[in-house]
Amino acid sequence: MIARPGGEPTSDAASSEPSLAAIARDLAFRLEVIRQLGWIVPLGKGAPLSERAEDAAGGTAADPVRDSERDADLDADLDAELDRRRELLDVIAREVAGCVACPLCESRTRTVFGVGDPSARLMFIGEAPGFDEDRLGEPFVGKAGQLLDRMIAAMGLRREQVYIANVVKCRPPQNRAPEAREAVACLPYLRRQIDIVRPEVICLLGNTPLRAVLGSSEGITRARGRVIEWQDTPVVPTFHPAYLLRNTADKRLAWEDLQTVMRLLGLEVPGPG
Ligand code: URA
Repeated sequence: MIARPGGEPTSDAASSEPSLAAIARDLAFRLEVIRQLGWIVPLGKGAPLSERAEDAAGGTAADPVRDSERDADLDADLDAELDRRRELLDVIAREVAGCVACPLCESRTRTVFGVGDPSARLMFIGEAPGFDEDRLGEPFVGKAGQLLDRMIAAMGLRREQVYIANVVKCRPPQNRAPEAREAVACLPYLRRQIDIVRPEVICLLGNTPLRAVLGSSEGITRARGRVIEWQDTPVVPTFHPAYLLRNTADKRLAWEDLQTVMRLLGLEVPGPG
């Protein structure tokens, strides 16, 4: 929950108009809602769109009419930017649907492109689709996906607020780990997804994305517990949910990693107890 500071805009005692302080508080609240819902859209890393709009207008205005006009402009900018990203992702998804770059195309039922908010602040990257994903065309919808959903919920987020993709977009037979040549063939699609979503933080789930994205030769057990700077983006490697289903004792370590992600995003981390 986002607490509304100071309640609804209040009126000056002597007038029916809301006070400037109340308007400023209300505006700050609404910007915080936008921020916490993942709607901060850094157009080119740096200032959130909300701040850019304020800068462009020459600082915080005290004019309520201008404020509401600026709010409407901001909403329109955000919608347009979301549409633009959605369209760009759709173009790649269509390419992926027709991809024959590696032999996995022969055995797939459906390609599994990615899902979530095209301007998400957080992106999870997994390995490859499994049985359920191959049938439904969506990443992380089987048992491992249910655990990932719970991990996301534990962070105070919803699945729709993050972006979820895999290194490999087609199911490897018998759910085996993707071979290096399959990951290499598929990686350009993931790179383009990352470029479009431009997440503030990337969380890698297991060995396959660790190796494919970072080129790491370490295993996940050694690599996790750290923040790795990759192309100006902090990357947090952690265990794959499927591994955590088999090794429940390591959920504690995964939770530590998720708390690191939360800190990087400025989300409130629950205290002990
Ligand atoms: N495991 C993955 O790595 N990705 C999925 O989409 C499902 C299971």
